[in-house]
Amino acid sequence: MATLPVTLDRDAPGALGVQLSGAIRELVVAGTLARGDRLPSSRALAADLGVSRSVTEHAYEQLLAEGWLEARRGSGTFVAAGGAAPAAATRRPAPTAEHDLVRLDAGTPWIDPRHAAGWRRAWREVSSARPPRGYDDPRGLPELRSALVDRIGRTRGLVVDPDEVVVTNGTTDGLRHLLAVLPPGPVALEDPGYRAAVETVKGVARPVRDLPALDPVVDLGGVAAAYVTPAHQHPLGRVLPAAERVALLDAARSARTVVVEDDYDSEFRYDVAPVPALASLDRSRVAYLGTAAKSVAPSLRLGWMVPPPAHLDAINARRLVTHEGAPWPVQRAFLALLRDGYVDKVVRTARRVYAERAPRVAAALTPYAELAGPLAGMYSTWLLPQPDALRARAAAREAGFELNLLSDYCRSARLTGLVLGFGGVTDDELDRALAAVTSALA
Ligand SMILES: Cc1ncc(COP(=O)(O)O)c(C=O)c1O
Repeated sequence: MATLPVTLDRDAPGALGVQLSGAIRELVVAGTLARGDRLPSSRALAADLGVSRSVTEHAYEQLLAEGWLEARRGSGTFVAAGGAAPAAATRRPAPTAEHDLVRLDAGTPWIDPRHAAGWRRAWREVSSARPPRGYDDPRGLPELRSALVDRIGRTRGLVVDPDEVVVTNGTTDGLRHLLAVLPPGPVALEDPGYRAAVETVKGVARPVRDLPALDPVVDLGGVAAAYVTPAHQHPLGRVLPAAERVALLDAARSARTVVVEDDYDSEFRYDVAPVPALASLDRSRVAYLGTAAKSVAPSLRLGWMVPPPAHLDAINARRLVTHEGAPWPVQRAFLALLRDGYVDKVVRTARRVYAERAPRVAAALTPYAELAGPLAGMYSTWLLPQPDALRARAAAREAGFELNLLSDYCRSARLTGLVLGFGGVTDDELDRALAAVTSALA
């Protein structure tokens, strides 16, 4: 083989040699490299990838030691007997192109097509309404803020005034607006945690501090903000217990810092009612972030924020100048969807679907993997040794599905397994994906 279809990420944590051995191992597991295939020499591969030869030698040595590769004296390095069979007829098909795979993403919700009439009604209403003449109120449409306040009071126990709400283009947009007015300094983020939030923090040139996701937070000294998902830790699924909520807020008070509460999917508890929002315990320390991504659609790009009162004016003053409010048609449509009862209806239906699918996923995977948190929301996370997780992902790809690896959500944490979303697929797709995964793990 002249070269290998591998791209290295120089910014990713960890040694390049380890990344390279992981990538080659995946190619063997997926059957892209079959038994007996010859690998490029370590020198040629190093030149191809633009890395030092010690990186490629390290990767080859590791895979030789694991038995994926074998060295033949005088002729080179080959895929060992554990790889897929080589004959064209028996060789597994090349994995489907990435964009053709059905993604089992953690963040994609189930939207029941039976509610499509309500969706159309809302957009008809938008089409006959008049847009504002100039730039709109930077906080968002007043009627929408009132409707949101009713909803988060009713569903999240968070009682606020419409003037304390800021309509955003989604969760990370809210985070960006908040960070723009906070004092300089690092932001603490759960590890493993929400990758978009990590990138947002890096994108505004603030250092990231890792908060081990399963450890109680006791010290927030020196951080400008701490970003958490207390209702359903993303991606481990844990609900932050009451004592740890109190300790987190105490730590924020002593450090005079802000806790950012990402309340992305709390509507989707199917056993018990969701724990009230952390912000309901202390408005002065918590910035609350809500989103329409899970209830209606991620592509709406609509969310809302209730910042701590001390930062509200600065956020609004900045948005007045930058015109970074949410688009008027989207706000107007979401208002119609809320008023019409559409949002409540799609949430109720999706909750029923998840309540049926989550145990189905659990029944399939429990013999092979350990569930990381309670069953809730539209995904579940399964702890597995990395080789098993890679094998399951490769099998899913062959069957036409893309799964997320838990290791991709980790920075310092060393957790491995699968994060399996079951919202954005049909029942049949879910069954086929589970069959591929379980046959790989069996
Ligand atoms: C942890 C978490 N927070 C928030 C969101 C939603 O983000 P946004 O509102 O920017 O679409 C997601 C979506 O996947 C998520 O996983």
